Amino acid sequence: MDKLILEPSGPLRGTVEVGGAKNAALPIMAACLLTEEECVIEGVPHVTDVNTMAQILSLLGVEVAWEDGRLAIHPNHYTGWTAPHELVSLMRASICVLGPLLARHGRAKVSMPGGCIIGLRPVDLHLKGLEALGATFTIEHGYIIGRAERLRGATIHLSGPFGSSVLATGNVMMAATLADGVTIIEHAACEPEVADLANGLVEMGAKITGQGTPHIRVEGVLRLHGARHRILPDRIEAGTLMIAAAMLGGEVTVKGAISEHLGGLIDKLREANVAVESLNGSIRVRSDRRVKGVQVTTLPFPGFPTDLQAQMMAMMTMSEGVSVVTEKIYPERFTHVPELRRMGAQITREGPSAIVQGVGRLSGAPVTASDLRASAALVLAGLAADTVTELSGVEHLDRGYEQLETKLTHLGAAIRRERG
Ligand code: UD1
Repeated sequence: MDKLILEPSGPLRGTVEVGGAKNAALPIMAACLLTEEECVIEGVPHVTDVNTMAQILSLLGVEVAWEDGRLAIHPNHYTGWTAPHELVSLMRASICVLGPLLARHGRAKVSMPGGCIIGLRPVDLHLKGLEALGATFTIEHGYIIGRAERLRGATIHLSGPFGSSVLATGNVMMAATLADGVTIIEHAACEPEVADLANGLVEMGAKITGQGTPHIRVEGVLRLHGARHRILPDRIEAGTLMIAAAMLGGEVTVKGAISEHLGGLIDKLREANVAVESLNGSIRVRSDRRVKGVQVTTLPFPGFPTDLQAQMMAMMTMSEGVSVVTEKIYPERFTHVPELRRMGAQITREGPSAIVQGVGRLSGAPVTASDLRASAALVLAGLAADTVTELSGVEHLDRGYEQLETKLTHLGAAIRRERG
């Protein structure tokens, strides 16, 4: 297994460009199952989760090929309908194939995603939404078996105990594109990736309005056609680079970052005394003194994203004063806390909150990443520490970040990968 060796670094200086959003790419790849014609997706990041989705599509009988940095997907006459446990267990987002398979084929067999390190993560909203469209489900031998005659439009409320669901909204929206009549999704997720999926579907001939709001309307059509779609820049990668600049100091311009997608983070960085400037097509972050402690609560978009919580906490460990993080999406998403504490951070847990007393310095240590965003937090902490940090579990980072170490190195950070 690879390791990252992180040396004391900063200030960071320069310009980096963010890649395409992994969380937009995955559902759009699944959406290609809704048509028989070729789709070309541009801006897809080379990350392991994308490979996992490509493997699932291949197993279903879909041809997937990288062509000049684009992903060309030829669904033609695929006949598969099973997403196996070996792949779903690697990536929960595999559940995105459920809606498209039911809409196109009338049947689907998808391994039931289990809990994961960041918490329980049920799929009840996916099933509730698809059932409202007329699908029926049984759970057999660890698999969700779904069946459907022609799906029918319906009005569906998709809110759970932690608010809207991003991928359940995506699944229902994808299935509704080929349903008979009109579907209204209430309490739809408003994340930019959901709107991007809707835009991709519209390019394929779907009739969708209201994307990006909690009320999405889908008018079913008989068929979708192929399309070419460029996915949006990755706001979580952009946010990670912005937090790196705030924490390590310096001046960094993140090209491709869209400030409307990062409002929750920008607000908190400014509160922490970091200068954030929205330019045309990029965001510039400047930090020349110790940042101030802040209170952050993760919420569905446009709130502060849970996917930036761990990175923000890394910054808080060295901020002035006390910070509080309250996790309202995944109350158990704190696997980075014990690792940060091993580096000298002062963090105490109180249920879904963590109280962080900023310390003057972190000390380098061997640490292990156990989930994707926690690994990014440990990269930042490792660069800010006073001696070398050795990060294991880098495969988690590789699931969702394309060349993070290269980008940070370009900004002046000292990181190298040891192949294992
Ligand atoms: C997506 C993102 C993930 C991000 C998350 C929240 C992708 C590929 N992944 O995951 O990076 O952290 O949004 O922004 O886009 N829930 C239920 N029942 C369900 C589904 C979800 O109760 O059927 C709960 C979850 O446990 C969680 C909350 O709803 O507490 C939000 O989860 P959800 O938006 O569904 O996350 P994902 O779409 O899986």
